Amino acid sequence: MDKSLPSRLTLLEIGIKDVSLGSDVKLVQPVNLYGCEIGDQCFVGPFVEIQRGVRIGARTKVQSHTFVCELVTIGDDCFIGHGVMFINDSFSTGGPAQGRRELWASTRIGNRVSIGSNATIMPVTVCAGVVIGAGAVVTKDILEPGVYAGNPARRIKALPQAPLASSPD
Ligand SMILES: CC(C)(COP(=O)(O)OP(=O)(O)OC[C@H]1O[C@@H](n2cnc3c(N)ncnc32)[C@H](O)[C@@H]1OP(=O)(O)O)[C@@H](O)C(=O)NCCC(=O)NCCS
Repeated sequence: MDKSLPSRLTLLEIGIKDVSLGSDVKLVQPVNLYGCEIGDQCFVGPFVEIQRGVRIGARTKVQSHTFVCELVTIGDDCFIGHGVMFINDSFSTGGPAQGRRELWASTRIGNRVSIGSNATIMPVTVCAGVVIGAGAVVTKDILEPGVYAGNPARRIKALPQAPLASSPD
């Protein structure tokens, strides 16, 4: 051990451990991924932590500095912006659960959900086809497609119509 480090120090290293990776996945190191499942053609940017038991569907992009905690499931074709924080411990008993996992709650993000930078996602369900604005704090389930923003996040509009397929000249 390095003599300059105190002898009682516990030093853990980040890395990629026990991860089930689909095909054509792109990871930008350093990342801390363990015990999770990342689908085909996903992208995970640098300084991301994805914890045990998380499942991320195909073609989803997770941008830098995001934290995806245990009990989170994310669907296919999602965009998780920079610095998005998922939460599984709501401090419902007046403080951290201190390892009492029965106090943690889960989050389910449907397919085609885009989450703006710096959003915070409490333990909720978000249906498919939702946009969540930058800096939003999502405190309740989102069960209707649309655009949501603010703290607490509220529906601000319907999703714009999908661009029309270009017609032949
Ligand atoms: C929420 C969002 C999708 C809405 O975009 P939009 O449809 O173009 O909406 P507008 O800019 O017309 O704003 C509509 C209203 O919502 C408000 N608003 C927009 N984004 C907001 C946000 N993130 N938080 C709170 N309010 C927001 C606007 O101030 C405006 O309010 P007003 O009607 O009182 O003036 C967008 O502003 C956003 O936050 N995108 C996230 C982008 C991102 O993080 N990308 C990551 C990769 S760089």
